[in-house]
Amino acid sequence: MANASTAGTTAPLLFQPFTIRGVTLPNRLVLAPMVHYRAKDGMCGTFHIAHLGKFALGGFGLVFTEATAVEERGLITEMDLGLYNDAQVESYRPLIALMKEEGAVPAVQLAHGGRKSSMQSAMEGNGPLSDADVARGRKRW
Ligand SMILES: Cc1cc2nc3c(=O)[nH]c(=O)nc-3n(C[C@H](O)[C@H](O)[C@H](O)COP(=O)(O)O)c2cc1C
Repeated sequence: MANASTAGTTAPLLFQPFTIRGVTLPNRLVLAPMVHYRAKDGMCGTFHIAHLGKFALGGFGLVFTEATAVEERGLITEMDLGLYNDAQVESYRPLIALMKEEGAVPAVQLAHGGRKSSMQSAMEGNGPLSDADVARGRKRW
């Protein structure tokens, strides 16, 4: 069977470039958007650089950030990434630079929580915030 190391044969489709409109991905490995509840004030921080950056280092062609809120009240939890102020825009630059250096295409899943905004994280139960959650400091909006 043909594989990437077989001289004179074509690489498996997974490892071939793929063009969507004007953007060419180096391969078809895609990291799906996955929320991690590690953002503060919606900012992209060291966790995101380490976590998402490692997929770029591993050769993924397209790396999505988690669902990223387009306005503050659209955050699903207060630990989600946001993209609604200038400080947040700046916070993504080191991660984007790393991805580009490694040849990955950075992608963002723009999101608005709608009626799901202001809820518990998956680890807390994924339900509405309880009075106990608020009593221990979680914001409800
Ligand atoms: C920890 C975790 C967080 C996730 N967060 C998001 C998210 O932010 N946005 C989203 O659309 N899907 C989210 N999902 C769903 C994944 O993007 C993906 O669709 C799901 O894991 C199924 O992937 P598959 O179709 O490759 O099996 C999440 C999944 C997991 C496991």
